[in-house]
Amino acid sequence: MENVDFLPLLGTDYVEFYVGNAKQAAHFYKTAFGFQSLAYAGPETGIKDRASYAVRQNKLTFVFTTSLRGGNEIADHVYKHGDGVKMLALMVNNATDAWKQTMVRGAKSYMEPTILKDNEGELIMSGICTYGDTVHLFIERKNYKGVFMPGFRKWESVYSPSDTGLLYVDHCVGNVGWNQMNKWVAFYEEVMGFKNILSFDDNDISTEYSALMSKVMSNGNGFVKFPINEPAEGKKKSQVEEYLDFYQGEGCQHVALATHNIVATVTELQKRGIEFLKVPTSYYDDLLDRVGTIDEDLMPLKELGILVDRDDEGYLLQIFTKPIEDRPTLFFEIIQRKGAKSFGKGNFKALFEAIEREQDNRGNL
Ligand code: FE2
Repeated sequence: MENVDFLPLLGTDYVEFYVGNAKQAAHFYKTAFGFQSLAYAGPETGIKDRASYAVRQNKLTFVFTTSLRGGNEIADHVYKHGDGVKMLALMVNNATDAWKQTMVRGAKSYMEPTILKDNEGELIMSGICTYGDTVHLFIERKNYKGVFMPGFRKWESVYSPSDTGLLYVDHCVGNVGWNQMNKWVAFYEEVMGFKNILSFDDNDISTEYSALMSKVMSNGNGFVKFPINEPAEGKKKSQVEEYLDFYQGEGCQHVALATHNIVATVTELQKRGIEFLKVPTSYYDDLLDRVGTIDEDLMPLKELGILVDRDDEGYLLQIFTKPIEDRPTLFFEIIQRKGAKSFGKGNFKALFEAIEREQDNRGNL
């Protein structure tokens, strides 16, 4: 009986960001990341207190929402956290059951099952709270055939930059406070039926100066993965602590976006102005000794700063952007998996040293 998945998830439905200026954020993600206009909600569609822009690239849907006035949940969220991830929305077959199953296991409700209707059908949405002010929405859209969801209209735009090959959300990482990692691991296990598939302690993730701990939580079918980070004691300030200071609490640290061709994707992103963390070129001197034969040429990886790691099942290529807002908070990972199901443990040291150099530049190390 315990083998029955009480919370079957079909994948990530969308990621919603609360931002200071949704119109400009949507333009940035179209221009720099290659998303396409999808849908709009705001005063013109009967929504009086906010404006939301949905953009899409393959299976990736991002929504940018801003408040039109102060003194509400959206405005308060932006005031406290800056631009950041509010909703990690998960696709389900039954949003009512998802809410009931998680509530009975101790979830805190964000939204009771709610039916949203328009001429295109009905969509059922419910939600529970997770770390910080972050929310998991459950989205049931099997009886909805509209462009995004009721309340939104199709967003027609003459401006549509080409895509950059981004495909879907690979994983979303949460940063939580001191001694809070195991509490949130228990939440994902007990409330959402996830399993802890990998753990990293401060011996795995430490440099000379700073450290963090991480546990990777996965749902039953592996479509949804949420690693949870907690700062660890080091000689200097952990990158997770810097995030917590500037986000003013727990929240989403990075969203990993999958591609089938990381060299082409990252070449295009860099051309469009996205800045990435750089490891020293010495990283590449013994790379092939560490990871063995790979399909890609070494030179473009080195020029772009793409990292490689191997596990028992294959290898992966990955690279991390610098924070994409002024606060040193949310950033993105671009990842191409070639068999590997892990998270690049072999790159942690080089990567965290690169992050520390950035932290030091900000005076936060
Ligand atoms: Fe990651």
